[in-house]
Amino acid sequence: MEARAAGIDLGLEGRIALVTGSGAGIGRGIAAWLARAGCCVAVNDIDGDRAEESAAGIRAEGGEAKAFVADVRDEAATLDLIERVRWAFGGLDVAVNNVGMNAGLPATPFMEWKGADFRAVVEQNLIATALCCLAEARAMVEQGRGGVILNVTSGETTRPAIRLAPYGAAKAAINHLTQTMAVELGPHAIRVNAIAPGTTLTEQVRKTFPESHVAAILESIPLRRMTEPEELGRLAVYLASDLARCVTGQFLLADAGAFLSRSRPAMPPAGPPR
Ligand SMILES: NC(=O)c1ccc[n+]([C@@H]2O[C@H](COP(=O)([O-])OP(=O)(O)OC[C@H]3O[C@@H](n4cnc5c(N)ncnc54)[C@H](O)[C@@H]3O)[C@@H](O)[C@H]2O)c1
Repeated sequence: MEARAAGIDLGLEGRIALVTGSGAGIGRGIAAWLARAGCCVAVNDIDGDRAEESAAGIRAEGGEAKAFVADVRDEAATLDLIERVRWAFGGLDVAVNNVGMNAGLPATPFMEWKGADFRAVVEQNLIATALCCLAEARAMVEQGRGGVILNVTSGETTRPAIRLAPYGAAKAAINHLTQTMAVELGPHAIRVNAIAPGTTLTEQVRKTFPESHVAAILESIPLRRMTEPEELGRLAVYLASDLARCVTGQFLLADAGAFLSRSRPAMPPAGPPR
């Protein structure tokens, strides 16, 4: 029997969604799909032109979107962002915390990381996400109508994040935070889940890895393809929607099977017999 997709109520019509860092890449794909599912979308980015461009793209498709410039590593700016979104749209129902990546730094062997750079990566991932989660959860509890929070982490949390030590550690911490929040916010009807993209060829990935490494990654992926930003948008729609209304505290990998073919670290040489 053919599924009647048009007849499925996702429960997202008129819901207010915020996507951080949605002026480009994965965030843009997520914002576009939440709008297609019926959400009014607050497009956040540190770069105003990018935010405006994403919002205009959604409006050109007939959706509702506004751009909100803010640096979500800054607590005051994040609190102000949430208040501006609530004021502009009348609330906040879905929040996608997507800002992350390697703080513009190249992949670096563990022992060569400088403390300040390590801190910058943790700040862009764990701290920015935590600041958003705090402001979003408080707003949702105050509204008293439940909500959905999605944290964008990474397939790197399923294996050692070689040359990306601070990134892997910070994203793994976000997975843990997601579970804790799911337990503490569950009684308020707030669901909290994590989306873990596999390698997605966005601007940041091009900056972080040399082309030869990108080709090697592609070769190791079972589906021989990378994840597309809009595919993560579909996953976000599912998790935000009523289709996933009993799903919370989960970590969903969308990596074209890359997790299954991860390379194992070389075994250490055998020691002398005892
Ligand atoms: N691209 C990948 O292969 C990949 C894989 C796994 C996980 N991820 C995660 O997905 C998320 C998005 O990655 P992407 O590749 O789309 O990145 P991207 O750099 O292409 O886009 C990120 C956007 O966020 C904005 N931004 C950066 N810092 C900000 C800040 N402090 N406040 C507000 N906006 C800010 C940038 O201006 C940019 O428009 C990140 O959390 C990343 O770690 C990406």
